[in-house]
Amino acid sequence: MSNRTFTMIKPDAFSKGHSGAILDQIIKAGFRIVALKMVKLSTEKAGEFYAIHSERPFYGELVQFMSSGAIIAAILEKENAVADFRTLIGATNPAQAAEGTIRKLYAASIGENAIHGSDSDENASIEGAFFFSGLERF
Ligand code: RTP
Ligand code: MG
Repeated sequence: MSNRTFTMIKPDAFSKGHSGAILDQIIKAGFRIVALKMVKLSTEKAGEFYAIHSERPFYGELVQFMSSGAIIAAILEKENAVADFRTLIGATNPAQAAEGTIRKLYAASIGENAIHGSDSDENASIEGAFFFSGLERF
């Protein structure tokens, strides 16, 4: 069990102005921000980030969406970070997400679902390294 996870506030939530409320909810849930930046992914970089899904039917749509506007990327720290953060964001499909979760509050659809959370300690480490150098972590 690691104490770090990685997240992105996706272009839908960012463009609707939900970033402040989402970061506030994350901090109030007990996560410490280790690294934080605002970026816009190229289609190439979005494709690389989601390469694990390249055979899935929604891959093209996902890459287009994730490169469609600015996002906020962050590394977060808390005991049991990966699992606790997945609980905080809720199910992939917001229609199935629990009340009070970030996706229930801010996501419109399974494709445009407001926020990303790493699914394992190993991926949290890989995804954090995709966005942040050692100099950008505090
Ligand atoms: P994420 O990686 O973004 O935290 O989401 P997740 O683990 O809950 O879901 P995952 O299976 O990893 O899927 C990655 C993202 O692909 C989009 N998706 N679209 N149209 C669809 O059926 C579909 N399924 C997945 C979502 O943006 C999902 O978060
Ligand atoms: Mg995932």
